[in-house]
Amino acid sequence: MDYMDMLAKLGIGNAHPGGYAGTLRLITHFGFGHGQSVLEVGCGTGRTACRLAALGCHVTAVDSHPVMLEKAEKRAAAEGARICWLRGEAERLPCPDNSFDRVLVESVTVFADAGKAVSEYLRVLKPGGLLLDRELLAAGPLPGELAAELAGSYGIGHLRTAEEWRRLLEETGFGETGIWDHRSMTPQLWEDVVMFPDTHQFADRDLGRFPTLWETARRYEELMNANQALFEHGAIIGRKRQAGI
Ligand SMILES: C[S@@+](CC[C@H](N)C(=O)[O-])C[C@H]1O[C@@H](n2cnc3c(N)ncnc32)[C@H](O)[C@@H]1O
Repeated sequence: MDYMDMLAKLGIGNAHPGGYAGTLRLITHFGFGHGQSVLEVGCGTGRTACRLAALGCHVTAVDSHPVMLEKAEKRAAAEGARICWLRGEAERLPCPDNSFDRVLVESVTVFADAGKAVSEYLRVLKPGGLLLDRELLAAGPLPGELAAELAGSYGIGHLRTAEEWRRLLEETGFGETGIWDHRSMTPQLWEDVVMFPDTHQFADRDLGRFPTLWETARRYEELMNANQALFEHGAIIGRKRQAGI
């Protein structure tokens, strides 16, 4: 089973490095709040989008996977969150130019055509708007076999280092680029499950009928554990320049 289909069937609410604890740190540090227009790209099952809506943000959330969006809408209904859900691709966002104060992304751009996606993030931000994109990073050059596995099994064509991401943002036209909360990979399951249990995780009821799902989960876990020292994560930051600056 495909990795994204596995996450969708399990209804995972924080499928990104750093987990929900990392999301809360970022939301607090960057002062997300009342009245801001926020686009979340690759929202998955909508846990972050719902949190932002609860803080008073006007949230639009895009994802390419229909089951993710279905579960996100179910979560929003359960939490009473008002969110504009859109099916679409990071590389061709279904949103007008200059529309958002913030674009937030969590573990999505590595699976996309990053150059196109980052150009789209810039296009839809208002001048002065901020991009925050937490992604899995390479700590350095990856062995060929590992790079091939990431490309073949997960669609991660090129896992960038923090500096490669920063340069991509700069070349795309972002100002004030940097990496925030740059960390090595540590298992985060305990913190998320115990400190921030997801009360609206809608897992499919027929999981037992899909042994390939557990095989996909096991392979991903093994890959991450075996190569922990080669991976990092962090939030790539950039600001859309004001006209003429
Ligand atoms: C690893 S999951 C992360 C989901 C969510 N951000 C989270 O942290 O729980 C990646 C998400 O990005 C979506 N996705 C992958 N490639 C995409 C693309 N090119 N455009 C839009 N969404 C994409 C997948 O459907 C999935 O929901």
